[in-house]
Amino acid sequence: MKAVVVYESLWGNTAAIARAIAEGIGEGTPALSTAEATPDALEGVDLIVAGAPVLGFSLPTDTIRSSIEKGEPKAPARPDMSHPSMRSWLDSLPKGTGRSASFETRIWWSPGGCTKGINKRAGHAGYEPIGKGERFIVTDRYGPLRDGEIERARAWGMELAKTAG
Ligand SMILES: Cc1cc2nc3c(=O)[nH]c(=O)nc-3n(C[C@H](O)[C@H](O)[C@H](O)COP(=O)(O)O)c2cc1C
Repeated sequence: MKAVVVYESLWGNTAAIARAIAEGIGEGTPALSTAEATPDALEGVDLIVAGAPVLGFSLPTDTIRSSIEKGEPKAPARPDMSHPSMRSWLDSLPKGTGRSASFETRIWWSPGGCTKGINKRAGHAGYEPIGKGERFIVTDRYGPLRDGEIERARAWGMELAKTAG
């Protein structure tokens, strides 16, 4: 089974979870940003695991991304805008056949989320979602991840490999 983990991540939390999921799925599974996950990188893929941060209660839009780029003076670092939003990546994903799984990073109490939007778009592209998706928790607005989330992501990756494999 060929699996690829794809992420959008402005401050690195979602990227760290993506790398842990990829480790859990198994050796050789890449964790790629939406810029790196080109059609070539997806050639022959059976499972796409896609994740994004919840921003403004939803899968990040271009509007919230540009407002973050202009105005988050209290952020510990500049947001990484080097790769496109997961929303636009999924909307331009070439049609394929396979399975998908979704995850999000978020504050525990927030309404809204990303996984529904990811599942809907991946399904449209021909990658049938496995389950509702998984949430990984940060302790504050910009992170860090709550203790134990990296281990939980690795374990979830192992489970996904069993389900899809
Ligand atoms: C402008 C902004 C809006 C956010 N909105 C939400 C939100 O609506 N719900 C939520 O759970 N977390 C929200 N967060 C927290 C982020 O989802 C969280 O920090 C996430 O892990 C960031 O992921 P990244 O480091 O991969 O960019 C927000 C953070 C920022 C900076």
